[in-house]
Amino acid sequence: MTGMSATSASPTTVRIGLLGFGNVGGALVDLIAERKDDIASLTGIDLQLKRVVVRDLAKPRPHDLGSAELTSDIAAVTQADDIDLVVELVGGVDAARGWVSAALSAGKPVVTGNKALLAAHGRELFDLAAANGTELLFEASVAGGIPLMRALQHSLRGEPIERVMGIVNGTTNFMLSQMTEDGADYADVLAEAQALGFAEADPTADVEGHDAQAKAAIIATVALGGSVTDADVPVEGISRVTAADIATAKRLGYVIKLLAVVERIGDQPPYEVAARVHPTMVPLDHPLAMVRGSFNAVFIEGGAVGELMLYGRGAGGAPTASAVLGDIIAAAGSLAHGGVRVVPGLTDAIIHPPESAMSAFYLDLSVDDQPGVLAEVAGVFGRHGVSIRSMEQADVGDEATLAFITHVASEADMASTLAELEALESVVRIGARYRVVPQ
Ligand code: HSE
Repeated sequence: MTGMSATSASPTTVRIGLLGFGNVGGALVDLIAERKDDIASLTGIDLQLKRVVVRDLAKPRPHDLGSAELTSDIAAVTQADDIDLVVELVGGVDAARGWVSAALSAGKPVVTGNKALLAAHGRELFDLAAANGTELLFEASVAGGIPLMRALQHSLRGEPIERVMGIVNGTTNFMLSQMTEDGADYADVLAEAQALGFAEADPTADVEGHDAQAKAAIIATVALGGSVTDADVPVEGISRVTAADIATAKRLGYVIKLLAVVERIGDQPPYEVAARVHPTMVPLDHPLAMVRGSFNAVFIEGGAVGELMLYGRGAGGAPTASAVLGDIIAAAGSLAHGGVRVVPGLTDAIIHPPESAMSAFYLDLSVDDQPGVLAEVAGVFGRHGVSIRSMEQADVGDEATLAFITHVASEADMASTLAELEALESVVRIGARYRVVPQ
């Protein structure tokens, strides 16, 4: 860092080293060039992009790097004396862990958008930042351009956060929206999402919920204050959601969304944390039901603030670069003005047993259309302590389809209900099963 006294006449220069020059890295380079002068006059900080690390130096890149050097030498960013702040936008876990650790150990603040890294090794890296008196900032790691991390860490710090429910994966929200609005099948909307560049050629991370799982772990850690890893978050993706399920949900007054759900369990410390990801039936009049296409939204329930929702673009180069730039300015401000906020070390969260997690459920069954079958089926729910809120019957030949919505019940009670229903002779088939956001 040069020019230590920040005045509008002589701004403090903060020299940035960037690891990764892909979609977000390129958008960040453009955004810094575009906003640099305004940022200097607003904050007294001159952001100087000094060095960009890429794997392939020969690859053409449609971005004006100004005076910044392109290099393939990682240490020229993580270890160099003329770099004040490191931005990691490569992704992946193992190599990125080494680079981020090296930069933090050298006392450099790091800004990252790497959700997989934080969900797996966040505690270790936050501890390392604290031990070296520096910062690790990660706004871009969850919900792209939505300023969620800062809202949870600062604006809502005084809140007892009770629950966070997020649509945090744009690809799957785009797919589910298309299925809902056009009645399209899963395979067709997946092909459309791939053609439009939302979904990867291998869509597993998005459609099986792993991307949302990592984000749920980070939200839980930040919102509830104990370290939660992706391994603590049970996950179900959307690959089993059918057009028929979506049509049934709509008829009953719901839309199906992939939700990351994070809850604080207990009335007094030590609280437990429950975090999970699954396709969920959301009432049509809930704010999350209105979130269409590739947008993200996060619905927060606090003790004093009540309910609030943050909405915006959860992916894409420019929105994600905006979140990265906000973190760069915050970290540069700490460097320039001597206000590094050393986060105290995290402790591990106490994870609520997944089988005790509570939800309302939707369940449909095909049964023999005979006298006494409904009573027999209802009896199974009752024996396992699962209370039925509504039931709708449709007749198809000799069979009837029974669609139940329950009151809130535990995963364990619902699982034992299902096991007993499966064993009944009158139950021909167990159909769809979804968690439901209660109305
Ligand atoms: N693949 C993610 C999404 C964006 O579809 O939202 C990056 O987290």
